[in-house]
Amino acid sequence: MPQADLVVVANRLPVDRVTGPDGEQAWRRSPGGLVTALEPVMRQNHGAWVGWPGQADLEVEPFDFEGTHLVPVSLSADDVELYYEGFSNDTIWPLYHDVIAEPRYSRLWWDAYVRVNRRFAGAAASAVAYNGTVWVQDYQLQLVPKMLRELRPDLTIGYFHHIPFPAYGLYSQLPWRRQVLEGLLGADVIGFQRVADAGNFARAVRRQLRFETKASGITVPLADGSTRVARARAFPISIDASSYIELAHRPEVRARAAEIRASLGNPRKILLGVDRLDYTKGIGHRLKAYGELLAEGRLKVEDVTLVQVASPSRERVEAYMQLRDEIELTVSRINGDVDTMGHSAIRYLHQGYPREEMVALFLAADVMLVTALRDGMNLVAKEYVATRTDNRGVLVLSEFTGASDEMGSAIRINPHDIEGLKDSIMRAVEMPGAEQGRRMRALRRRVLEHDVEAWSREFLQAMARARREDANSETAT
Ligand code: G6P
Repeated sequence: MPQADLVVVANRLPVDRVTGPDGEQAWRRSPGGLVTALEPVMRQNHGAWVGWPGQADLEVEPFDFEGTHLVPVSLSADDVELYYEGFSNDTIWPLYHDVIAEPRYSRLWWDAYVRVNRRFAGAAASAVAYNGTVWVQDYQLQLVPKMLRELRPDLTIGYFHHIPFPAYGLYSQLPWRRQVLEGLLGADVIGFQRVADAGNFARAVRRQLRFETKASGITVPLADGSTRVARARAFPISIDASSYIELAHRPEVRARAAEIRASLGNPRKILLGVDRLDYTKGIGHRLKAYGELLAEGRLKVEDVTLVQVASPSRERVEAYMQLRDEIELTVSRINGDVDTMGHSAIRYLHQGYPREEMVALFLAADVMLVTALRDGMNLVAKEYVATRTDNRGVLVLSEFTGASDEMGSAIRINPHDIEGLKDSIMRAVEMPGAEQGRRMRALRRRVLEHDVEAWSREFLQAMARARREDANSETAT
């Protein structure tokens, strides 16, 4: 395989391994928006994607899939436990989400994180052509930019951080706070979801490394006494809005939405929550507010149903096991207290669904509840809005999501304020059609104009600009 001009490096490959009816193994494109967004770019550039195939100890040779060259990085069971479940999801994830759960700091996990990051960097360095571009994705791979620059100084390197970057007071807990900042600063362009995340990062760099920062530029001193510039700024990610709209128009998806409503007993209002089962999502706060509204009689079980899809996630990490127990206890308490033979307060589904079914659910829902305590972006908010082609429906959206910065016409809430959340749910349930229309039109305009294709184009352009600026400053010196 010739080397690629554009290489994406992410913890996961853009495909899932599936077992067919006769036990045969095959690959299927993963459902995520990032994968869909990059598909045309990868095809045009004969791009390559370096990532983990998603199962421990699975050794797979590089292969081509729908126009992209896939380079699997194998992780042993130990790597999965220490690098993925440990350092990525039990240290960085809780720390970067404002310590909602307690981060655990283990030197063994850190060593594995360094080792595995080095493997990803090595695989990317072998896959990319001379003077090529590498785009690293997310918190599992924060050391890759620096490692890659050391291996291949000819490259243009980008890094996009999909989750929040915390305030310095929290970030400074990290025993390896210096190494992580230095790792990220290996990139030419470092992208964040929100302006505030980029600001937190620049502040950490100033406080910890004493490097100079000006607007989005960070001056990084080099060993030979010269300097280079890393640029850190916000690039809010989005969804492939047109594919959601296309699904929302399909007659069979609309029929399925009607079927869902009917199967719930045609309640007057359907409320919906869709999340990975994660402690950052504020599912417990949502249930508390909803349960109290029912207990106080402000909502009646005959009139409303909350559908809560909680897709299984990181099930071997202790904090996730505990969360599942808590949520399932709460759901069954509320249902036990208020259900009737014919009506259920909460339809709880610990399952993942294909995109068609999700769109049918969005179409069936009068109110979408996004109550995250901290969330890099929250794409579900954007997906709901994109599918509401009739400009009806209400989005209740936590201020603590990246999406909230762009979606001022949602009903914005502080999930910690349970009374405020209850009032906002009531307001959403009772909102007149005209006001729904005004708000939904504004929300849809933003999401449709700024889709994930625009996002990836802007990021790739920023990398190309960085390359030109660096070439110019080299000729100038
Ligand atoms: C978040 C992260 C992604 C991650 C996804 C699913 O959205 O930003 O990097 O892939 O969660 O989590 P998982 O651990 O299953 O990859």
